[in-house]
Amino acid sequence: MKALTVTVVGGGMMGHGIAQVFARAGHAVVISDPSREVLDAALARIGHNLAAEGADPERVLCNIVLEAALDAAVANADLVIEAVPEKLALKQRLFAQIAAAAPAHAVLASNTSVIPITRIGEALPLDARARLVGTHWWNPPHLVPLVEVVRTDHTLDTVFRQAFGWLESVGKRPVEVKRDVAGFIGNRLQHALWREAISLIENGVCDAASIDLVVKNSFGMRLSVLGPMENADLVGLELTRDVHGLLFPELSRATAPSPLLDRLLDAGHGGMAAGRGLRDWTPEQVAGVRERLTRHLIRLTQRPPMADEP
Ligand SMILES: NC(=O)c1ccc[n+]([C@@H]2O[C@H](COP(=O)([O-])OP(=O)(O)OC[C@H]3O[C@@H](n4cnc5c(N)ncnc54)[C@H](O)[C@@H]3O)[C@@H](O)[C@H]2O)c1
Repeated sequence: MKALTVTVVGGGMMGHGIAQVFARAGHAVVISDPSREVLDAALARIGHNLAAEGADPERVLCNIVLEAALDAAVANADLVIEAVPEKLALKQRLFAQIAAAAPAHAVLASNTSVIPITRIGEALPLDARARLVGTHWWNPPHLVPLVEVVRTDHTLDTVFRQAFGWLESVGKRPVEVKRDVAGFIGNRLQHALWREAISLIENGVCDAASIDLVVKNSFGMRLSVLGPMENADLVGLELTRDVHGLLFPELSRATAPSPLLDRLLDAGHGGMAAGRGLRDWTPEQVAGVRERLTRHLIRLTQRPPMADEP
């Protein structure tokens, strides 16, 4: 495959890692961000990530160009991946500009976590809507294999297949999302679990630390080698149906964020950055969590991605 020109719009937490993946695979990468600090930090972050994996930063950084001006950044792009803050109006405005400035063949992709891609593209010309897909990467994008590739009713099949193939070719594990639903697949699953976890705390069943202990010492240990649908088949669908019949009436059906989150936020419990969230955190513990996660993911990614069949 010939080397692509890939423009990543937004060089923050996700953008720098996405850029790293394409640059490491030998593609020409442009990172665009209005903030000079973010652009400079992106190169430093990529260098740090690569060093942690024992890779040579110089061989990768030489494939990356920084360009603050969006029109110039996308002018030669085969693929544009947007990773700017999760604000619908901002994404809509940027895609209008990208569609006007990028080549007519360019595949346009959004890394939105939960916004339906159709909404992001709703004001675009038809030919640009036909080239728009969702590519939902997971943090940290240079280490987590999954990218959910989302079609809309307008996405051309050739565009979808191109995006999917490019992601596979750079070592990612793309998965097709056939309908453009909010949250796609992974975030719907993840937040269904978080809703129930927060409800258990709210109802006095256990504290936040116990939720983490339960998950990490039981089904969390199995999850990366035994998916939930494999697990349902393993225990058998009769047992699965019986358990659901007894349990589903008891589970949270909340349709709004928990009032517990409002109370915690009002009391300054914003999460690790604030030193307290659902649990309390010292700076050393926060650094430890990050370090443990990175080391774990590097170890896991040194073996091939999980297949979807036994
Ligand atoms: N953080 C995650 O875990 C995660 C995971 C998957 C998907 N996402 C999604 O990825 C996207 C980016 O998230 P993030 O965590 O990297 O955010 P971030 O705030 O770290 O980075 C966003 C970057 O966009 C830049 N930006 C703002 N306006 C811009 C503009 N007009 N043109 C170009 N760049 C601009 C900002 O300067 C910033 O550097 C969001 O849609 C988010 O929902 C995030």
